[in-house]
Formats: sequence, C-alpha cells, structure tokens
Amino acid sequence: ATDEYVTVVVLGASGDLAKKKTYPALFALFKHEFLPPTAQIVGYARSHLEINDFHARLRNFIKTKTADEAKQLTAFLANCHYRSGQYDQVEDFQQLDAYLTDLEARYARPPQSRNRIYYFALPPTVFVPVANNLRDHVYPRGDHAGWARVIVEKPFGHDLESSRALGRALAAKWNEHELYRIDHYLGKEMVKNLISLRFANVFFASVWHRHAIHNVQITFKEPFGTEGRGGYFDEFGIVRDVMQNHLLQILTLVAMERPVSLTADDVRNEKVKVLRSMSALDLKDMVLGQYTASPDGAKPGYLDDKTVPAGSRTPTYAAAVFHINNDRWEGVPFILRCGKALNEAKAEIRIQFRDVPGAGMFPSPLSRNELVIRVQPNESVYLKLMNKEPGLSFRQHIRELDLSYQTRYEGVRIPDAYEALLVDVLRGDQANFVRDDELDAAWAIFTPVLHQIDAGAVVPEPYTYGSRGPAAMTAFMEQLGVARDRQE
Ligand code: BG6
Repeated sequence: ATDEYVTVVVLGASGDLAKKKTYPALFALFKHEFLPPTAQIVGYARSHLEINDFHARLRNFIKTKTADEAKQLTAFLANCHYRSGQYDQVEDFQQLDAYLTDLEARYARPPQSRNRIYYFALPPTVFVPVANNLRDHVYPRGDHAGWARVIVEKPFGHDLESSRALGRALAAKWNEHELYRIDHYLGKEMVKNLISLRFANVFFASVWHRHAIHNVQITFKEPFGTEGRGGYFDEFGIVRDVMQNHLLQILTLVAMERPVSLTADDVRNEKVKVLRSMSALDLKDMVLGQYTASPDGAKPGYLDDKTVPAGSRTPTYAAAVFHINNDRWEGVPFILRCGKALNEAKAEIRIQFRDVPGAGMFPSPLSRNELVIRVQPNESVYLKLMNKEPGLSFRQHIRELDLSYQTRYEGVRIPDAYEALLVDVLRGDQANFVRDDELDAAWAIFTPVLHQIDAGAVVPEPYTYGSRGPAAMTAFMEQLGVARDRQE
C-alpha cells in the first residue's frame, strides 16, 4: 500500500481487540504483501511481558493452516516488538519514542520517509492522555519525518455532549486528517460495495427514490448474548453498540446522493447531509427488547449474566424507524433493527420496492420486488423478482436473481474489515472512516432517546434467547406497511 517506511504502534497490545482483530489483520496484510515488508509493529501496554511470551500470546490468536503460513507467521513475529509502559507517564512515552527512532534508523532507507501509525486498542478512559503523550513525545521529527496517523475505535463518548468533549480534547493536539475513527462495518466488503452498486450501474439510479422504493430495512442479528461481556455492554446497550454507528453508517451509504468524486471529503460530505436531513429519533418510533433465558433453560437470559446489574433495563434488541426529509426519501421508512441472542447471525440491507400497479391482471398475487445486499454471512446481492412459473400455467412466483459470492467468486478471499481499513490508513484514505461532523450528527439523532432509555423510561419487551425478537415487531412492521408475510 505504501513504499515508505512505517511503524505501527499498537497501544493496548495485550488486550482483546489487539489480539482478536488488530494483530490477525496485520498478519493477513503481511502475508498478502499489503504491508511494506520492512514495517515494524510495536505493541505497547502496561503489563510487563517478555517478547517470547508476547509472541506466544499472539500465536494463540493467529491460526496458520500450512507450513508455508507458519513460516510467514514466524517472519511476521520477527517484526513484532513489545514495550511496556503506563498511559500517563511522559518518560514511558519518551522511551517509546527512542525505541521507534532506533527501529527507524535500522529499517527505514532514506530518502524513505519515516511514518507512524498509532492504533488505539485501548479503553476510552485513556484515549486523551495517550493521544496527548503521543503528540507531544512520539511524533515523527527530524530528517525524513513523515506522517503520523491515529486509529481510534468506539466508544466515542456516550452522547452528544461527551462525544464533543472527547472531540475537542483530541482536536487540541491532532488534525482531523490524522484521525481515523473506525466503524468496522465500513470495512466490510458488502458495505464497501454499496457505492459501486449504486453509482456504477445505470438501472439502480432510476429506481433509487421514493417513487419506486417502499421501505429500506437494515438488519443486524447475532445468535449469542453478552456472555460475560455484560458489564461493558450494560453501560452502552444495543443502540450505542450497533445502531448508532454500524447501521446508521449503512443507512447513509444507501441514502446519500452521488458524491462529486470518491475522495474522502466528497463522500463524507454527502453522508453528513443525509444525517442532517434526519430528525432526532422519538421513543414512539422504537421497539426495545431484552432477552430472557431460552425455553429449555440452556441459554441464560441477559439478567442472568453475573456481570449485568440486577434489574437492568438496558436493551439488547432495538428497532427504530427513521425518515429522511429530502426530495429523494420523504415518506420512505428506513427501518433499522439489531439484536443479540436471536435466531441467527445475519447482517443485511433490504430495499423493498413498491407494489406493482395494476397487479390484478395476473392470476397470482404479486410480491414486492426486493434488492437484498447480504453483508454477512455468505456475502451476496440478490434481486427478488416475479417470474412466470415454467410450464403450461401462467402463474407468477417470486425468484431470485442471485450474485452469491460463494459461487460467483468461488475461491476469492474476502478480507476482514480490519484488513481493509488498515490498508486505507496506510494509503491515507479516510473515506471509510467517520469524520467529526458525521459523528456529531449521528449523536444528535440518538441522544434524546438514549437519555430517556438511560433514565429507565422504557421497560424493554422480553424475548427469548434464540427467538426472532420481541413479539411487538410484527405489529410495528405492519404499521409501516410491511405485511406479515413479507417480513423477514
Ligand atoms: C461491535 C459490537 O462493534 O460489533 C459487538 O461492539 C458486535 O457487540 C460486533 O458483536 C459485531 O461485529 P461483526 O463484525 O462480528 O458483525
């Protein structure tokens, strides 16, 4: 991705995110030659760890299948260093800087510039001190000093005010073009595909508006609960965990106007306009749920999780309907749904078109056309259309025009979202990262209801572990004009 020299500093290197996502993604990039071969990776965390122990930990999370891969992993680990230090100690950061400078002297070949990426795999409580210390003591300086880029991941505050406070604190030291706010859904193959589908095909443009589209459904389902992670989850709830970021980002890509170009700012300018055209969400436009134990008792309910405070009203399921007040979308409900402990794992975007006029001339009832973009699992794009049943009858039935990746791109590897995003950072492309004003507009939409939910204003409707969600959803969807037999 870049011919320049780069060091990737992983802060919080001994934590979960680093082990599960950051390092495996870095290894995949190394293996597929997307990481400059001389790139060095420096883990930083509070625990004192011998380098061998650190490498052994990483090996637990990076699985190799062939002898060749095992060799590549050994080569990769040879570039993985570890330093321990506190997050608020200036001297520790000065030592880190000296360490990086030494690596640069060994690996960078002038006139190559020396660049640094700082990956925050950290709890949000230390975002600001770490950002300050890095800017003050670990910023590239001197001959051939290159760029510095910071990668941060949610939570970016817990409401509009706290997000702004965090934003101001980061902006005091760092420029917006140096900050890469991750929403890992933006790195997913099918989410990245939205721009191509919409703007690189002539036929979608002519139906992509309220005259042809009845509603848009964006759905996220997970088949497992919080499982011991309830302490973290309970502070945030499903609305902050998934809807306000991942699903809302998808909504903006579905709804935005054609950007002037594909540059980061042109794309994000359009996304922000969508968010600004939406009103703040109202509780009456939501269904909230919380899962209870599975009927056979094998799977615990949310409140049975020891890490969840007794009597918590935190939602683990949320559905909400949004309206975008512009020419293209007025009157089209955008229905966002997300939940834990449901019947399946699925993330998809479903564009449901309007009823066909004059359908009465056909012998069979007609179903609405749908364009479905399945984000995961089994990526695919399919169009549901009415087709004549083959044979001597003239009945119609719904069938799929199917671009299923497993069969149409057989054997093609779909990179993990984190790999795609790291490549973007190496290239300096911020299009798939959340800009400050985008984040602000997203919080503005959700903050009023979040405050009400936090205050316990809603008792979430129970649904059993492994079910399709709260029973109230059927009526909620029907009210929006999505008939029971058309609900997914
Ligand atoms: C994270 C949420 O942002 O996204 C998790 O914090 C959720 O609760 C996860 O499980 C889902 O991501 P993915 O990539 O597994 O669909």
